[in-house]
Amino acid sequence: MPTVSLKKFEDKYVDDMVKLYLDAYKGLEVYAYKGVEDTKSYINWLKKRDREGILLAFVDNELVGFIAADSEWFSKREGEKVGAVHELVVREDHRRKGIASLLMEKALDYFKVKGLKKAELWVGDENEGAKRFYKKFGFKENGRYNYWIRMTKEL
Ligand SMILES: CC(C)(COP(=O)(O)OP(=O)(O)OC[C@H]1O[C@@H](n2cnc3c(N)ncnc32)[C@H](O)[C@@H]1OP(=O)(O)O)[C@@H](O)C(=O)NCCC(=O)NCCS
Repeated sequence: MPTVSLKKFEDKYVDDMVKLYLDAYKGLEVYAYKGVEDTKSYINWLKKRDREGILLAFVDNELVGFIAADSEWFSKREGEKVGAVHELVVREDHRRKGIASLLMEKALDYFKVKGLKKAELWVGDENEGAKRFYKKFGFKENGRYNYWIRMTKEL
């Protein structure tokens, strides 16, 4: 595991987050926003949802990953507030080093501090790597909408 420093979201990181996101979804474009403007709007939406829940990972001062955890998400399926992981990306050349795991651990801790009982996320049905990652974290498949699989985990 390289030395990873975690930082909170700041507006000055948006351009690097956009680049990282668009690179990270190569080959998985069907599940992703396309183009710089749409991705910027998406990151702006994440920021408005729960700014405190966005955590960025840096190696050698370069952004290599981020997670967007939303502690204010009302789940219609649960009928209550849950912790939603809206986004998790790690730069391709830094994968399988535990960086996403580190970000996910922090996100789950954040939800627990907020008193939430359940975490939820949606993953593309053929995004096998991400599904395996989430299963390793104890998320279980719990519903589907079109080509999205809903996964949940008790906190
Ligand atoms: C999914 C993603 C965030 C994982 O990031 P990562 O930093 O490589 O994950 P970690 O190193 O913490 O992986 C922990 C464990 O998860 C599992 N895992 C992670 N990626 C996997 C893959 N591609 N295939 C199979 N298992 C995988 C492994 O068990 C891994 O442990 P190991 O490396 O000791 O075998 C990264 O692949 C990514 O950015 N993908 C593109 C964007 C994406 O799909 N995001 C999720 C959207 S819902």
